Amino acid sequence: MAGDASKVVLLAHPAGHSLSPIMHNAAFRAAGIDATYEALDVPPEQLPAAVAALRGSEYLGANVTVPHKQAVFELVDQLTPAAAAVGAVNTVIRRGERLVGHNTDGAGFVRGLEELTSFAPAGLVGANCLVLGAGGAARAVVNALASAGASVHVINRNLGRATRLAADLTRTSTSPGLSHVPVVSVADDPTWAATTAGEDAPVGEIRVAGVEALSGLLPAADLLVNTTSVGMIGGPDPGGLPLLGTDDMAALAYDAAVVDLVYRPAVTPLLAAAAARGLVTQNGLPMLIWQGALAFEAWTGSDAPVEAMRLAAQQALTAS
Ligand code: ATR
Repeated sequence: MAGDASKVVLLAHPAGHSLSPIMHNAAFRAAGIDATYEALDVPPEQLPAAVAALRGSEYLGANVTVPHKQAVFELVDQLTPAAAAVGAVNTVIRRGERLVGHNTDGAGFVRGLEELTSFAPAGLVGANCLVLGAGGAARAVVNALASAGASVHVINRNLGRATRLAADLTRTSTSPGLSHVPVVSVADDPTWAATTAGEDAPVGEIRVAGVEALSGLLPAADLLVNTTSVGMIGGPDPGGLPLLGTDDMAALAYDAAVVDLVYRPAVTPLLAAAAARGLVTQNGLPMLIWQGALAFEAWTGSDAPVEAMRLAAQQALTAS
């Protein structure tokens, strides 16, 4: 760990809803590390000062969430390949006076997927994946799947946004620097090798399709991932299925898996429909836990106590 550093903060606006403080404080306790994690409500105009403060020797680093993930990208000194590829930072690590912007969302998603035995990393090579949505979460997921060798179709209500996502991720495979911030070499620091494995450049194909093409793509899909906020408590359509009609689930193969990045509620309408068809399902909790675990490892250099983090997050969700 970096000297006597003992603080991690979450830069958010608003700061209220995150499970990260509960999860990371449980992790520090379980690992016997004398450190604290605190959510800070940082309005956009205060973000540069909040990031600058992270250079202080008391900080291990920070997490970054809505609405700051893209703005922080321009405020750090270096980016990891994962952050550069996705165009967003969810984790800042202090290395001396240098701030490194990292992104553990994509690798966290793949680590979560490994909990489904049918999708060990080798299982993703050549796998047909349908990703619903083209927002920030989709960028991390699509990049991670394509980097693991999957063939990905991105389907979004707003087709232009999906087209931009595919163009940006494909461009980064030949020219990683989307901004002036230099990209750190994985060889500089062994931490990156563990937390950015395989995320240097997408190797699988990334294609875009309109919503009308979805029913034709479902029969060949090995994995369907919802990255939209449809089905989420408090979201735009809590009772709905994302971009799908009720009959569409029947078009999925019996051995397809369905993952919903939403974890409130634990069983979304999409996951209920998939389970009713007998399909393997997973909600967004494993991705949340693993993106946190990879951030913990980058800050502390210690293995994350993943099961303590899972238990704390599950208990907090049950209580909320
Ligand atoms: P995040 O960072 O969580 O991905 P985001 O960037 O706001 O959030 O992206 C939200 C995604 O949910 C987008 O793909 C959005 O589709 P559009 O780009 O077409 O707006 C999708 N989304 C939100 N509400 C939706 C709805 N009612 N039906 C379908 N898609 C929806």
